[in-house]
Amino acid sequence: MKYICTKCKKTEEITSIKAKCYCGGLWKLDFIPPKFDTKLIHKDTWGLFRYREFMPITSNYWEEISLGEGMTPIIQFDEDLMLKMDYFMPTLSFKDRGAAMLIAHCKSIGIQSVVQDSSGNAGNSIAAYCAKAKIECEIFVPEGTSPKKIKMIEAHNAKVNVVKGSRDNCADVCREKVDTEKKYYANHVYNPFFYEGTKTYIYEIYEQLNRIPKNIFVPLGNGTLFIGVIKGLEELLISGLIKDMPNIIAIQSEHCNPFAKAVLNKESIPSKVIPKPTIAEGIAIGVPMRGEEILEYIYKYNVEVIIAPEDKILEARHILAENGVYCEHTTAASYAAYLEYCKIKGKTSDSLISMCGAGLKSDH
Ligand SMILES: Cc1ncc(COP(=O)(O)O)c(C=O)c1O
Ligand SMILES: [Zn+2]
Repeated sequence: MKYICTKCKKTEEITSIKAKCYCGGLWKLDFIPPKFDTKLIHKDTWGLFRYREFMPITSNYWEEISLGEGMTPIIQFDEDLMLKMDYFMPTLSFKDRGAAMLIAHCKSIGIQSVVQDSSGNAGNSIAAYCAKAKIECEIFVPEGTSPKKIKMIEAHNAKVNVVKGSRDNCADVCREKVDTEKKYYANHVYNPFFYEGTKTYIYEIYEQLNRIPKNIFVPLGNGTLFIGVIKGLEELLISGLIKDMPNIIAIQSEHCNPFAKAVLNKESIPSKVIPKPTIAEGIAIGVPMRGEEILEYIYKYNVEVIIAPEDKILEARHILAENGVYCEHTTAASYAAYLEYCKIKGKTSDSLISMCGAGLKSDH
């Protein structure tokens, strides 16, 4: 198993600490799992490492670092809509899927210290798994990040740097440190091990329902869940367990929508946007680093890209909460976008949305 550059195809050992290729391209992992088969699931493991036969696991360190992530329930919210409760996670967001896999990898190659930038949730996740793995951790977050997320990162003994300016600027400042100080960049966007964790989202849906719903709604900022969803579905397709891809509907913020604009203009790179403040902080990504790769998937699988209307997010959060589901604003944005989609397209049965982040994490 090696890293392969997405641009020049150069390969690199997975023990490398290089965050990307010399040419600037990001790494992909040349890992082909066996055909997905429920018989190969380790049913006595109560977490996402039950799918370890299909994950790039090279050691048993996952046992040491696991916090019981994954196996989140799916609930029937109403007649048409199912919610996958991914905030039922150790650090209250779906990012634990990727962080558990990535930090298990870091531990297996002897990494002792990492840095990472995040809108909050990925930082929470990396900090918690580093704490469990006894790896030193430093997280960069943009100003305006929910104070609760910052407190949580600090509680796991990670150092927090609050960076002035946008989420994109925060990533630039962190990457500068990676370059100049040769730090390990445990980043959810750059490091392909992360996606090998988020793809378990689809494995679980398949194992739980014994099928894949017709309409899968996914938030799309940097695309860590989106790419995981595509990977998982492609694996099910290759394994012959599904005949076609379902309808995939990606959700962007009305105030930060480089993919929605690119699709509208049939472009192959994300459009330049000037992000406006949004309460959907988790998807406020103006410069998604895997933009071209994501757009290739969007065109390949006819993914629809829709917008969460900013003025409908609080109302959507309220409806969910009134029905017992207390999620964070970025997650309510997905529901707001779903309601808008139904308004335009009509009743959309057999739909599934991820409840990515917990309500206690965001105050706006
Ligand atoms: C709650 C929540 N939902 C969705 C996302 C979007 O994930 P991504 O940027 O990987 O597309 C994030 C990212 O931080 C998040 O925190
Ligand atoms: Zn390259």
